[in-house]
Amino acid sequence: MSATARKTALNADDIRALKGQRPIVSLTAYTTPMAQMMDAHCDFVLVGDSVGMVLHGLTSTLGVTMDMMILHGQAVSRGLRQAMMVIDMPFGSYEESPAQAFRNAARLMAETNAAAVKLEGGVEMADTIRFLISRGIPVMAHIGLTPQSVNTLGGYKVQGRGDAAQRLLADAQAIEEAGAFSVVLEKVPSVLADEITQQISIPTIGIGASVNCDGQVLVVDDMLGFFTAFKPKFVKRYANLGNDAEAAVAQYASEVRAREFPAPEHVFAASAPRKT
Ligand code: KIV
Repeated sequence: MSATARKTALNADDIRALKGQRPIVSLTAYTTPMAQMMDAHCDFVLVGDSVGMVLHGLTSTLGVTMDMMILHGQAVSRGLRQAMMVIDMPFGSYEESPAQAFRNAARLMAETNAAAVKLEGGVEMADTIRFLISRGIPVMAHIGLTPQSVNTLGGYKVQGRGDAAQRLLADAQAIEEAGAFSVVLEKVPSVLADEITQQISIPTIGIGASVNCDGQVLVVDDMLGFFTAFKPKFVKRYANLGNDAEAAVAQYASEVRAREFPAPEHVFAASAPRKT
């Protein structure tokens, strides 16, 4: 998708149709400049609730609110032309009932221009997924390590090992049957990710899953080396911008203290130079 400029953004049907065609590329984004930078390279951009940890200093995604998602969703939307925008439903905004989920999903889409929502959960969320889709809201599901359930999963552990593999497969099948257009598989054994990818007809998007998933997603600040609080095994750093940024800040501080900045070329003369 990157080389040819599209007139309209990709949608849920386009993403679903990519299964078996070519790998689907995705990253998270939370701001307009990041969205602009990745628009031509990604098939969909996820406004992830990881924003709480990455940009707001929260220790988990549980404290992320609808207002935070809407603010960042609006910023990302202004930066996208071609890539589809998917937005996370934050913790507590959809689990209670399908009606609660619809009310909040509709608000997210209306106020941010997102083309779909993502929510965490498998079998237990199938009715809600069906309810949303039948009322016009495309849904991407998220199973395996679901960070909003960190307190019942015993931490950020690999999911789907041993007997749990069958449950995860059943989750994926329930999601497919409910009509989701895609499913994120986070931190699951690669053989299980491969099996799920083969068994279901909708694209699997891996993060800490398998190279054979139908697509991949990463948190952009992780892969750029901006977010360095911790580095999960599944993150590959494609740059070290955090280090570069800190070095630049240190140099600025030292130049200010040494009265080397601003230099003559950064300040203004009392009268404007005459035009010849
Ligand atoms: O919130 C997020 O960034 C996510 C991705 C890691 C899939 O859900």
